[in-house]
Amino acid sequence: MTAPASGAEPPGAADEHSASQAVQCMFDGIAPRYDLLNHVLSANVDRIWWRRTASTFAPILKKPQAVVLDVCCGTGDMTLALLRHRPAGAEPVLALDFAHAMLERAKEKFSSPECSGKAVVAIEADALHMPIPDGSIDLITTAFGFRNLANYEAGLKEMHRVMLPGAELGILDFNEPGGLFGKVYNFYFRHILPRIGKALSGSSAPYAYLPHSVHRFPKPEEMLAMMCSCGFIQATWTPYTFGIAGLYRAVKA
Ligand SMILES: C[S@@+](CC[C@H](N)C(=O)[O-])C[C@H]1O[C@@H](n2cnc3c(N)ncnc32)[C@H](O)[C@@H]1O
Repeated sequence: MTAPASGAEPPGAADEHSASQAVQCMFDGIAPRYDLLNHVLSANVDRIWWRRTASTFAPILKKPQAVVLDVCCGTGDMTLALLRHRPAGAEPVLALDFAHAMLERAKEKFSSPECSGKAVVAIEADALHMPIPDGSIDLITTAFGFRNLANYEAGLKEMHRVMLPGAELGILDFNEPGGLFGKVYNFYFRHILPRIGKALSGSSAPYAYLPHSVHRFPKPEEMLAMMCSCGFIQATWTPYTFGIAGLYRAVKA
């Protein structure tokens, strides 16, 4: 048995290995309904968040030679937002995920007319052990995936390993907002969203896990400290939509 999970803790996970397997199974299971549920549950605000994140990194994305990696790409929407900023003929964007069924859906999107002239290489692999050489990436993004890693520190170190010095990292993920708005939103997120998710997907576990995983995820100040302890500098967090979500940014020293 490996160490207890120091990251995501889906139901039934006793250690990092079983946590990782449970997450993979869960996303393979919900892949057919994932996009629909995402858009319904976020009232389409997710599109704004992906686009805002991509725009933040536009100066890197517009460089044709920049090597860009979207970790935990899922069904590919963050990757598509990145592609909008890539010039024709640029280096392919690398899109990595370990859930086969999610990646298959992403590949369909990558071969659609919307992406013509913009290359993507889909990689089916674990974000904690990426088949990518040391110091080879100029920009890593990851949207709503980092929170699901079985070990957050190991995830940051693995991303740091593959990045070039001076490369940038963007982690877009949920947050628990505070104040009165936070109380109302957190009620929706913990009590109403899981019911809608269950009704639409036919499965209760993934949408019960979602608020649990956000509650368990490090708060911004902890995340920023962890990023710095893993070798990143200039770590910042920008809240999106009243702090429901937010973008962590950092640079490899
Ligand atoms: C909530 S989805 C996000 C997908 C996409 N980035 C988006 O914004 O819609 C999380 C994704 O992270 C992937 N994931 C979680 N842990 C992973 C790991 N250790 N290695 C690779 N992919 C992982 C899951 O398979 C899933 O597709």
